[in-house]
Amino acid sequence: MPRTVLVTGGNRGIGLAIAEEFLGRGDRVAVTYRSEPPDGKFLAVRCDVSDPEQIDAAFAAVEAELGPVEILVSNAGITEDRPMLRMQEEQFSRVIDTNLTGGWRCARRALPKMLRGRWGRIVFVSSVAGLRGNQGQVNYAASKAGMVGMARSLAREVATSGITVNVVAPGLIETDMTAALSGTRKSTHLAEIPAGRAGRPEDVADTVAWLAGERAGYVTGAVVPVDGGLGMGH
Ligand SMILES: NC(=O)c1ccc[n+]([C@@H]2O[C@H](COP(=O)([O-])OP(=O)(O)OC[C@H]3O[C@@H](n4cnc5c(N)ncnc54)[C@H](OP(=O)(O)O)[C@@H]3O)[C@@H](O)[C@H]2O)c1
Repeated sequence: MPRTVLVTGGNRGIGLAIAEEFLGRGDRVAVTYRSEPPDGKFLAVRCDVSDPEQIDAAFAAVEAELGPVEILVSNAGITEDRPMLRMQEEQFSRVIDTNLTGGWRCARRALPKMLRGRWGRIVFVSSVAGLRGNQGQVNYAASKAGMVGMARSLAREVATSGITVNVVAPGLIETDMTAALSGTRKSTHLAEIPAGRAGRPEDVADTVAWLAGERAGYVTGAVVPVDGGLGMGH
């Protein structure tokens, strides 16, 4: 049965792969973008997730075209890496506001219609950094760890209404975000990955689509790693 899917930050990287996966499965897919829209395959709406009004407008546009959002993938995210003593308060707040509060805003906007339809899937894209920490990512890891508590609390609130809330925790995935890492930092991370390689955005997309599917209806409050074993044990 086709569903209406909204992927935030779906114009590139992991979000784009997720949107393509749902499209391939026959769903009605919308993505949000902040800078440039992806090519014309999906309904694309401009939305900065740090702005509640833009989120409301984006959901309204998707609802008007495709119907209520039944599957929300909260993927939009940023890094602003610095060692603790060089990190300014704005750099901490900006990352929390985009990654964590942005996800909360989207879930809050999506929820009433999911409750009314008595079916829904919310998937938050977190990170292995939120589980095991990462040097220079106090802000990012805090935002991604926060998603776990948020998802599990919400999962408990809505579990009897046919709505699941889960988290995927990617490891090192080849996108623009990791292309920005220095060669040394990347090879340090790579050396730690039991699978011996970085992941592809499609690896994450498959897991998200499974969590959002009919067959995963009894999976909620889970944190699913997609990391080649990097975060094992956390
Ligand atoms: N790549 C990895 O190794 C990795 C590992 C673990 C977790 N993750 C997580 O996976 C998600 C996607 O990462 P990626 O690697 O695909 O990153 P990416 O290539 O840098 O893409 C980031 C996406 O987020 C969007 N975005 C950023 N700030 C936004 C804002 N304020 N409002 C709306 N959209 C915003 C970007 O939109 P614009 O293009 O319009 O700027 C872009 O679509 C992120 O949450 C990231 O933390 C990534």
